Amino acid sequence: MPIYLDFNATTPIAPAVLDAMLPFLREQYGNPSSGYALGRAAKDAIATARGHVAALIGAEADEIIFTSGGTEANNIAIRGTIEPNGGKRVIVTSTVEHPATDEPCALLAEQDYTVHRVNVGGDGRIDVDGAQRAIRDGAGLVTLILAQNETGVLQPVAEVATAARGHGALMHIDAAQAVGKIDVDVKALGVDLLSIAGHKLYAPKGIGVLYVRRGVRTQSVLRGAGQETGRRPGTENVASIVGLGEACRLAADRLRENGAAQMAALAHDLFARLQREIPDIALSGHPTARLPNTLNVLFPGVSGRAVLDACPQVMASTGSACHADREEASAILRAMGIPEHKALGAVRLSLGATTTARDVEEAANALTEAWRKLGK
Ligand SMILES: Cc1ncc(COP(=O)(O)O)c(C=O)c1O
Repeated sequence: MPIYLDFNATTPIAPAVLDAMLPFLREQYGNPSSGYALGRAAKDAIATARGHVAALIGAEADEIIFTSGGTEANNIAIRGTIEPNGGKRVIVTSTVEHPATDEPCALLAEQDYTVHRVNVGGDGRIDVDGAQRAIRDGAGLVTLILAQNETGVLQPVAEVATAARGHGALMHIDAAQAVGKIDVDVKALGVDLLSIAGHKLYAPKGIGVLYVRRGVRTQSVLRGAGQETGRRPGTENVASIVGLGEACRLAADRLRENGAAQMAALAHDLFARLQREIPDIALSGHPTARLPNTLNVLFPGVSGRAVLDACPQVMASTGSACHADREEASAILRAMGIPEHKALGAVRLSLGATTTARDVEEAANALTEAWRKLGK
């Protein structure tokens, strides 16, 4: 049986999530805007889901907007908040963002906004002094990834948020990879906006959330009817919203039951097994400020893609891209100052709620064997 170690790419839908969704794909098909019982049932289900999402991140239910995913949530946060909240045309972000942040920022840069991309150190963490200097340049919005999707590195968001608040800038975080894996609390972090992607926490693809702190104004990227208090028009994706609500409820249970520590122990075991057989293998990113499930490992002397090609029983990813028949190392690892030849050895192994100790043992053996087969 192949072993799935790509939970940062996407997760399977949890059985309880699917069970919660099915009635809304069958008999409970009402439009939540309809006034009769069938519509009210859909509306009530959305309200329950909103409560579960809010509870997971320490927010109020009316601060939760359902979107079509993490990408849309980031787009509303980045493109739809600066104008209605003071219009200061400077955005601060980092060099290790997901394209769902990078591209909206690039679009604004074409429209006469100034975008400061703050560097990260070799550990993948943003330079806080650099961020503070950029914020003092008149920032209207700071947007940072909370947990980097390739490396799992966590950014010092609370520190940056304090600086943002001190200078009247909004603070947005892309928490798509963090929510459900570690405790995330909007008040403790001091953020105004936060994005969630359902398919990273055992809900379906195509559903997400933007948390908007009370008092922060957003301008919808879409124009239409008044759903989601006008902030995200369009008939609600009821079944997926219900699924995301259930997934958030399950995530809260998992985290309460020490799920993050158990995940970290499994990931630690996987890296220790690889390191025993491949002494020069390295882990990229900060050793402790990281997600418990993500290992970005650098295989020495070979390309990560070649390792995975030689090891079809492990489903994982590399951050590299193929351009004109040439493999290019991950831009995220390069931004961390990792030389091209080392960064090409990267493989991202991301564990999930269904990963077992046996999966870890078998994956470690298979990856080691593949690396050996490549002649090292
Ligand atoms: C950090 C991060 N942000 C945003 C997204 C995009 O989310 P979605 O696929 O729901 O649009 C992803 C998914 O790959 C991600 O990892």
